[in-house]
Amino acid sequence: MIHLRAVDDAGFAAFVERAIPRRAERWTRRGLWRAENAIETSRREYAETFPQGRATPGHHIFEVVDDAGSIVGEAWYSARANGGKVDFYIQWIAIWPEHRGRGLGTALLGLLEGEARRLGADRTSLTVWEDNPAALALYTRLGYTTAHRNLIKILDDVAPPVH
Ligand SMILES: CC(C)(COP(=O)(O)OP(=O)(O)OC[C@H]1O[C@@H](n2cnc3c(N)ncnc32)[C@H](O)[C@@H]1OP(=O)(O)O)[C@@H](O)C(=O)NCCC(=O)NCCS
Repeated sequence: MIHLRAVDDAGFAAFVERAIPRRAERWTRRGLWRAENAIETSRREYAETFPQGRATPGHHIFEVVDDAGSIVGEAWYSARANGGKVDFYIQWIAIWPEHRGRGLGTALLGLLEGEARRLGADRTSLTVWEDNPAALALYTRLGYTTAHRNLIKILDDVAPPVH
């Protein structure tokens, strides 16, 4: 139904150009960044994450392609040997809005599990925010459980930092 195709240089550039404003918007909405700093911060973070572009060791970025050859989404995972095991981390998945709700996200996670097994990982892990019910529902249905919690407390009356 779908398969993964590693991005070429143009595909990687398009992936990053989608990711930068998306992260800027989400991190601002979640209160992590100030709006006026968000795009610059996001651009810097992606540059730091991918110092060698799509060839950055440990990172794997794909277009999700359907049987008709159309790109219907994207996926990014990282994998590294650590502690005698393989850390397989799903950094990001997306199915384009017009293709959602037809099982493609489910199929995509199945493909990523296949990648994990192929690399010798005995588990996959990911982070999902509480403000993303569709993704949370999908992961829960597929057997993901909460391994740890990231707790936040908003502090009152803190002046913004002066730079
Ligand atoms: C998460 C995502 C990849 C799912 O893709 P998809 O192709 O729609 O996935 P599926 O069709 O296999 O399953 C979607 C499930 O979400 C459920 N769902 C959709 N919208 C929902 C909502 N607002 N609240 C709760 N569940 C929702 C569907 O009912 C379906 O579950 P079901 O099959 O048990 O009914 C897609 O929504 C997406 O790309 N989201 C934006 C990017 C994103 O947030 N990625 C995850 C970051 S952690």
